[in-house]
Amino acid sequence: SKKHKVCIVGSGNWGTTIAKVVAENTQQHADIFESEVQMWVFQEQVHIPKDNRHYKSASDQPQNLTEIINSVHENVKYLPDIPLPHNIVANPDLVAAVKDATILVFNLPHQFIAKICQQLQGHIVPHARGISCIKGLAVSDEGCELFSERIGHELGIYCGALSGANIATEVAQEKFSETTVAYAPPEMDSRHPTPSGTPLPDAKGEEIDMKILSDGVQAGKKKLTPLPADYPPLHHGNMKKLFHRPYFHVYLVNDVAGVSLGGALKNIVALAAGFVSGLGWGDNAKAAVMRVGIMEEVKFGKMFFGSSVKTETFTEQSCGVADLITSCSGGRNFRCARMAVEEGKAIGVIEERELNGQSLQGTSTAYEVNSFLRKEGKEKEFPLFTAVYEILEGRHRPEEIPDLLNAGG
Ligand code: NAD
Ligand code: 13P
Repeated sequence: SKKHKVCIVGSGNWGTTIAKVVAENTQQHADIFESEVQMWVFQEQVHIPKDNRHYKSASDQPQNLTEIINSVHENVKYLPDIPLPHNIVANPDLVAAVKDATILVFNLPHQFIAKICQQLQGHIVPHARGISCIKGLAVSDEGCELFSERIGHELGIYCGALSGANIATEVAQEKFSETTVAYAPPEMDSRHPTPSGTPLPDAKGEEIDMKILSDGVQAGKKKLTPLPADYPPLHHGNMKKLFHRPYFHVYLVNDVAGVSLGGALKNIVALAAGFVSGLGWGDNAKAAVMRVGIMEEVKFGKMFFGSSVKTETFTEQSCGVADLITSCSGGRNFRCARMAVEEGKAIGVIEERELNGQSLQGTSTAYEVNSFLRKEGKEKEFPLFTAVYEILEGRHRPEEIPDLLNAGG
């Protein structure tokens, strides 16, 4: 029987880390997955840094990042000092990277995904399935969508989500972490393995409502192409085999919206935590911001993504409270917001200086969420999200956060 071929779409700090996790698992579970993992890399020319162990063998000229990754098996720019499994193949050609892939793992800063989906249209196998590791929301004039939904709609595939308390470097160093994977495709993917050649009862294709899968809101039907019978089924058990490692524990749930929203909205909260820390305020201030933050996350989910969003996803899973804690301790959004306040500089200036090409997701998410809340007339019901936006806009100062949170009470 056939095996699943995996492509990681993205190769930044988290993208490369997830490629490592997945490539270790495709080697281990050779009955389900092809060993080789394609990793699409946004091509750029880089110098191997002087403090890198591969510096001595480097040329004086900048080289293609893909060639460096494929020769020294390390992403020297976005995940330095982490040896990568040799079955990862860095590929600068998006269409070639996804060729024949039945599992597409989307992992890149959220601002780039629209263009990627456009480029992928018509080039993926129809029965492909997706997992979005993106922490952000797709806000447009039509409203607010999860990236799992956006990808699903654009490509006509089912797409789940992976999100958790996962500072990439810690996972890459194999320090213990947990994560949450939300994967709830229609029944037809979960069939028990059938003898090769046996037609599936639903082989004509199943009408599924892409939105209902994640949030219970009606948004038109799409035909999902069934997984051919000669592939191993893609149920929770096999999805776990793709991501679970001894140092990276995976919990599977069905609440795609809850998982995606926790990851996206905590980035706004982490900025607020950074602001109060930058003022030299203590852990109590940070905890207050986090308390309000998780309440606003749940409220946002229930208000805009329907009753299928479970409060427990936020309060009990890695993608909720645990991600909030880790992000408000050592995340990039937190650290850059803190430095911005300490140094009296714009956060974009700090991002540019500190992150060597990595992207903050919290600033754009704060703007996007605000534009959506304003349109819905709900800004006042989300005082923390609104305060972060106002501070980024320069209309309020971080010192005003206590008053802004207490405005109604
Ligand atoms: P990153 O912050 O390292 O971003 C850099 C990546 O963006 C590089 O691969 C770069 O090539 C790519 N890029 C730059 N310009 C581009 C363009 N025009 N088109 C396409 N790609 C371009 O990215 P990351 O850390 O891998 O984050 C990906 C997602 O994972 C984000 O949504 C993030 O919130 C989430 N996430 C990150 C971490 C983490 O610790 N880094 C942990 C969990 C989740
Ligand atoms: P930052 O993007 O703020 O570094 O957060 C990383 C993360 O998502 C940890 O789970």
